[in-house]
Amino acid sequence: MNAPLIQPLYNEVQHGTWSTLYRRQRDNLEDKGARLYLGALDRMEVLTEEEIPKVDRMSAALQESTGWGLVIVPGLIPVDDFFALLSRRQFCTSTWVRRPDQLDYLEEPDMFHDTFGHVPPLMDPEFALFMQRFGEIGVDLCGNEQAVLALQRLYWFFVEFGFVEESGMPRAFGAGIMSSYGETNHAWNLRSDLRKFTLEGAMSTPFTTTEIQSTYFLIEDIPEVIREMEEWHAGMS
Ligand SMILES: [Fe+2]
Repeated sequence: MNAPLIQPLYNEVQHGTWSTLYRRQRDNLEDKGARLYLGALDRMEVLTEEEIPKVDRMSAALQESTGWGLVIVPGLIPVDDFFALLSRRQFCTSTWVRRPDQLDYLEEPDMFHDTFGHVPPLMDPEFALFMQRFGEIGVDLCGNEQAVLALQRLYWFFVEFGFVEESGMPRAFGAGIMSSYGETNHAWNLRSDLRKFTLEGAMSTPFTTTEIQSTYFLIEDIPEVIREMEEWHAGMS
């Protein structure tokens, strides 16, 4: 078994890049982001603009809140490992931080995406349950290529690029939006043109990782997503 990865020390430039990203995006999200997300972000005293946060402290805060934890990974990991982690209420994060000249575009997610984008919603019990069940179902269906693709699309259009409805208004929610200033503004400009989320709609819509999104789904109710996913899973066996 490999030894657990350890978070590196960072220099002033890296901490400065983190602070710039954080401040700019927290301000940008004030009137666009889901309260579910922003409330959790503001409650997380270990995830602030001051400096690159410690993974073990964020993990402890999550553990206390919803029983989730964080593990450090070197980069993208195989999908079956990803499902297995989620099924155990563990989310994975990289620890590298983009260079100052990469504020607006990255080919692979860095720690700002993995933590600022993904960690706050895991403080919400309903979303936390969705993610665990998603992982468990993924573990169960691994090897079924079509089912895995359907789950990857669900993850893409909900966890990465979903909007949620709050008090009758669409609010940005997915980590790919929340961690990107440009994506937030692009998506926000399309908010009157969101597709109403259905499990089948998300699972049958292709996505590309190399171009800015043209389709965003609006999720009205997270427990309903879980219910639909359970039904879909039950129909697979
Ligand atoms: Fe992500």
